[in-house]
Amino acid sequence: MKIKAYGIKEEGGKAEPFYYERSVGENEVRIKILYCSIARGDVQFISNDWGDTKYPLVPGHEIVGTVEETGSGVTALKAGDLVGVGYQQEACFACECCKAGNEQFCTQQKVIGVHCYGGLAEHIVVDNRFAFKLSPALHSAKSVPLLSSGLTVYTGIVKAQLPANSVVGVLGAGGLGQLAIQFLHKMGHKVYAFSHSLEKKEMINQLGAEFILSSSPGNLSELDKKFDFIISTLNVEYDLDAFLKILKPQGKFCVVASPLKKQSISIGLLYDYAQRTIYGNYVGSRKDMVEMLDFAARHNIESMVDVMSFSEMNEAIEKVRTGEVKIRLVLKNQE
Ligand SMILES: NC(=O)c1ccc[n+]([C@@H]2O[C@H](COP(=O)([O-])OP(=O)(O)OC[C@H]3O[C@@H](n4cnc5c(N)ncnc54)[C@H](OP(=O)(O)O)[C@@H]3O)[C@@H](O)[C@H]2O)c1
Ligand SMILES: [Zn+2]
Repeated sequence: MKIKAYGIKEEGGKAEPFYYERSVGENEVRIKILYCSIARGDVQFISNDWGDTKYPLVPGHEIVGTVEETGSGVTALKAGDLVGVGYQQEACFACECCKAGNEQFCTQQKVIGVHCYGGLAEHIVVDNRFAFKLSPALHSAKSVPLLSSGLTVYTGIVKAQLPANSVVGVLGAGGLGQLAIQFLHKMGHKVYAFSHSLEKKEMINQLGAEFILSSSPGNLSELDKKFDFIISTLNVEYDLDAFLKILKPQGKFCVVASPLKKQSISIGLLYDYAQRTIYGNYVGSRKDMVEMLDFAARHNIESMVDVMSFSEMNEAIEKVRTGEVKIRLVLKNQE
C-alpha cells in the first residue's frame, strides 16, 4: 500500500506530503492514525541535534490510532482496536536483551527518525508487539504523550524502587516532567517540581506538586539532603552538583534527557558522607508500557496538551521549536 506521510527532506526543513510503499508483514498491523504529538524530541530530530537523523524524516513518535489490517500471524489485535505506538517499532526478539524482556536495548531495534518513518502520516505499519491496545479511557489527545514521555518517566521512576512517602523532585515541567509529577504523586510520594516558569505554578500545584523556582538556585541550599529521588527531564545545561547535594545519602538521581554540551559533576558528591546513585533511563520495555498504560488509566493520568490539526503541522512544529507550547502539542488527524 502507498502510505501518505509528511516528510522533512533536510535539516531544519518543513514537513510536506511524502509517499512510501509499505505492505503488512505476517506479524504487523496497519494503523489509521488519529493523533500524533510533536514533542521536543521531534524538533530535535528535525534539526539533527544528535547527528543520527535520516532524511526524509517522518517525525512523530507518540501515536494513537485504530487497527485497519492485521498480518496472518497476528492474534493479539484485530481491525478496529484502539492502539498506541511509541518510539520503538521493532526488535529482534532473539538476543539476550530481548529474551530478558528489555527489547528497548536490542541492537537490532528500529526506532522512528533513525530507522523508520513516524506518525506524522495517515497510516503506519508496525510489528504488532509494538502496538499497544488502549483502554477506552485513554481515547483522547491527552493520552498521546503517554506513549513515549509517559513510558520514559514511569520506567525511570519504577527502577528507583522508592519506599512509600518518599520525598521526590522533578526537574522541568514540560512534556516528560508534567507526567513524572503525576505518576509520582499518584504513587503516594511528596513531589516538588523545579521549574524556571513561574506561570506554571498553578498547573504544577494542580498536578500534585509543590513549585520551586529553579532559576533562583540560592534557595536550593535550604533543601540540603532532603530528597530520596530526583528525575531530570532537562535538555538544557543545569547545575547538577546543586541537585546532587539535595539528595539524601542513599538518594537516586534519574536522568532521562541531556543538554547537547557535556555536563560536569563533582564526582565526590556521589560518595562523600553519602552513597548516591545517578542512572539513566531510555524509554521502557513492552512490559513497562503495559504497566504504565494500566496505571495511567486507573489513576486518570492525562497530559496537558494543546491540540491542533494535521493541516497546521508546520505551524505546530514552529510553536514547539520556539517554546510557545508550554507542555505538549498533539495533532489531530481530521482526514
Ligand atoms: N530518555 C528517553 O528515552 C527519552 C524519551 C523521550 C524524550 N526524551 C528527551 O527528553 C527531553 C525533554 O523532552 P520534553 O518533551 O519533556 O521537552 P519539553 O517539553 O521542552 O520540556 C523540557 C523542560 O525543560 C525546561 N527548560 C527548557 N528550557 C529551559 C531553560 N532554558 N532553563 C531551564 N529549564 C528549561 C522547561 O521546564 P520548566 O518551564 O518547567 O522549567 C521545559 O518545559 C528531550 O530532549 C527528549 O529528547 C528522552
Ligand atoms: Zn533483540
